[in-house]
Amino acid sequence: MTARQPLALVTGANRGLGLEVCRQLRDRGYRVILTARQAEHGRAAAQELGVEFVPLDVRDPASVDRLVAELKRVHPEGLDVVIANAGVALDGFDGQVAETTIDTNYFGVLRVVEGVLRCCGPRRTSSWSRAASASATCCRPSWARASTSRRSRAPSCRR
Ligand SMILES: NC(=O)c1ccc[n+]([C@@H]2O[C@H](COP(=O)([O-])OP(=O)(O)OC[C@H]3O[C@@H](n4cnc5c(N)ncnc54)[C@H](OP(=O)(O)O)[C@@H]3O)[C@@H](O)[C@H]2O)c1
Repeated sequence: MTARQPLALVTGANRGLGLEVCRQLRDRGYRVILTARQAEHGRAAAQELGVEFVPLDVRDPASVDRLVAELKRVHPEGLDVVIANAGVALDGFDGQVAETTIDTNYFGVLRVVEGVLRCCGPRRTSSWSRAASASATCCRPSWARASTSRRSRAPSCRR
């Protein structure tokens, strides 16, 4: 019997660390879904690596909804790994910079993780210990194992 390839999704992966994570996951035998907000750049990066591409702007709830719908359609079996890499480190500091940073680096992670949990759920409970974020710490593996009452205590990305 052939072992099933594990499936990983990486956000903000058209360049930088996200792109390299995709490359290394692929080299370790994962099927990789590379996501990026700029479709042209994301598609080119995915093509170069020979992995799947799905557009995703982590700041846009409609974009997360489209990702969820696509995952349901193409990968109903669920994900093994989610790398919430998309993030910003902007110059200067004012209200706009603060809002963009928090909305991307914190709420962006929540939107993606909540969306993925909503659509696919954990494929294997233990695998959700592998949900990782480069720019914010909010992905607790216990979310996936939580009872309904405990799950309601998980932070929400609805603002
Ligand atoms: N490099 C470091 O030393 C370091 C240290 C600590 C933490 N980090 C964190 O690690 C992560 C990756 O770092 P990096 O150096 O590779 O950063 P990077 O080169 O600036 O890449 C950031 C990636 O996030 C994407 N992104 C930004 N906003 C997004 C959004 N709203 N939706 C989807 N994608 C979005 C960018 O897309 P575009 O190309 O469209 O802009 C880009 O692909 C970031 O979260 C960063 O904060 C990095």
